[in-house]
Amino acid sequence: MTRDLRLGVNIDHVATLRNARGGGLPDPLRAAVLAQAAGADGITAHLREDRRHIRDEDIAGLMAEIAIPLNFEMAATLEMQKIALTHKPHAVCIVPERREERTTEGGLEVAADQNRLADFIAPLREAGCRISLFIAADAAQIEAAHRIGAPVIELHTGAYCDYHAEGAYAARDAELQRLVEGAKRAADLGLEVHMGHGLNYETVTPIAAIKEVRELNIGHFLIGEAVFVGLSDAIAQMRQLMDEARA
Ligand code: PXP
Repeated sequence: MTRDLRLGVNIDHVATLRNARGGGLPDPLRAAVLAQAAGADGITAHLREDRRHIRDEDIAGLMAEIAIPLNFEMAATLEMQKIALTHKPHAVCIVPERREERTTEGGLEVAADQNRLADFIAPLREAGCRISLFIAADAAQIEAAHRIGAPVIELHTGAYCDYHAEGAYAARDAELQRLVEGAKRAADLGLEVHMGHGLNYETVTPIAAIKEVRELNIGHFLIGEAVFVGLSDAIAQMRQLMDEARA
């Protein structure tokens, strides 16, 4: 079933937990299979340059074992391009990556790097991967994504979520407005709009209500919540909030 608003479940932090002890448990692939059974529309996994969570063999396992689409997040490096071209996942989401960051902190700089990125995504598009660019909700970045022929953008919701957590509600609402306007600008250009980063039960509703948004990618909160209620229930609750926001 193709839904109006899809939920991609990011399983990176099951791998974080596994890697904290060495060995193979908990298995991110098992989480992906469970997420699929619980109604996830896709699985997202970020193979970082330093392999701090997802590893190469996880990507191979996900490609072999899951029936729902894999959204492969990666930096725009030749190493990652080669891996993506080997596996040909349904989707490739290009993200900025700095070794010292704890998570993906900002959006990709597309406007200032558009010639390189256009060349970078060309073979991935030819291989049939749906390309998305993880960017801030800035008109210049959105227009650059469109210019280089990316069919999808994912707008970074991290600042909106951070302001909410800090109780900085005026700043949060301004950020939400920026996301609303960014989604509209992108949809007007014919881009498919996704959003993600930092979303939880408290922050998801206004984002899911933005009618141009077609996919949310959510990870850290769901994996954390799974410790208390189990992954299936956490996903079901998130799905319900998304559906209610959409209705
Ligand atoms: N979307 C993108 C492009 C990301 O890089 C991440 C984090 O890996 C997410 C969504 C999910 O963010 P979170 O784990 O905070 O829900």
